[in-house]
Amino acid sequence: MKIAVTGKGGVGKTTLTSLLAYTLADQNYQVLAIDADPSPCLGAALGFPEELLVDLTPIARMDELIYERTGAKPGTTGGYFKLNPRVDDLPDRFSAVHRGIRMLELGSVKLGGAGCICPESAMLRSLVTHILLRRDEVVLLDMYAGVEHLGRATADAVDAMLVVVEPTARSLGTAKQIMDLANDLKMKHLFLVGSKIQGDEDLHFIRNNSPGLDVLGSLADDPRVRQADREGISAYDLSPELAASAKEIVEKLEQYRQT
Ligand SMILES: Nc1ncnc2c1ncn2[C@@H]1O[C@H](COP(=O)(O)OP(=O)(O)OP(=O)(O)O)[C@@H](O)[C@H]1O
Ligand SMILES: [Mg+2]
Repeated sequence: MKIAVTGKGGVGKTTLTSLLAYTLADQNYQVLAIDADPSPCLGAALGFPEELLVDLTPIARMDELIYERTGAKPGTTGGYFKLNPRVDDLPDRFSAVHRGIRMLELGSVKLGGAGCICPESAMLRSLVTHILLRRDEVVLLDMYAGVEHLGRATADAVDAMLVVVEPTARSLGTAKQIMDLANDLKMKHLFLVGSKIQGDEDLHFIRNNSPGLDVLGSLADDPRVRQADREGISAYDLSPELAASAKEIVEKLEQYRQT
């Protein structure tokens, strides 16, 4: 199962990804969680121990490695470099593992539009493609508000894209934009997931203002998300309610996969 999580900034993508990761790990799946945020924080949301996180470097910042694999220095454009560098060894070499979850940080590439071609973007694209097409684990991709890391070739490999929305017009507006981009890539199985829900009214708002996507599930507005952040542990461990909601989402995903 390959799941991409996207949505407007700050809606709760990383929180949802961390909850899904633990839910799936507890069901004995091998989980590969990818942090595609320019400023990585999935490791913290997962409550990975500090000593594991300090040793992690986002792939996009590994200048030497990018040079070695693509034949060009990051930050350069116009020269010759490999568009399909070798990446198969990277997920195991540069990730951290904790409680059955393997996590990898991609880091950011300053993309000059969808057509940007530079060594570091070639590297990340190859890596994401490799992970989606060749790795056997359950893959969770914590993205930002967009589908940059996905291309036509990889859109097919994503079993579901979860667009996280708060009960606000703005976050639903972003969901619509994401949906249009995803449709361009012919991605199937897009769903909304409600986040920071305070009651039925919030859920109704999301349903009534959805850009035509089903709501797969939702997460309550829960003060324990912040508490977990402050204590350096995962929300999954602090909030049985959020853990239960994540489980329901996983169950729905499994149902959809079978149909
Ligand atoms: N279910 C929730 N209940 C209460 N607060 C939440 C919930 N989910 C997320 N938050 C809070 O909202 C903020 C953003 O959460 P999170 O980092 O998961 O969002 P994000 O979409 O990944 O953000 P970014 O776009 O910056 O990556 C955090 O301060 C977090 O504590
Ligand atoms: Mg995030």
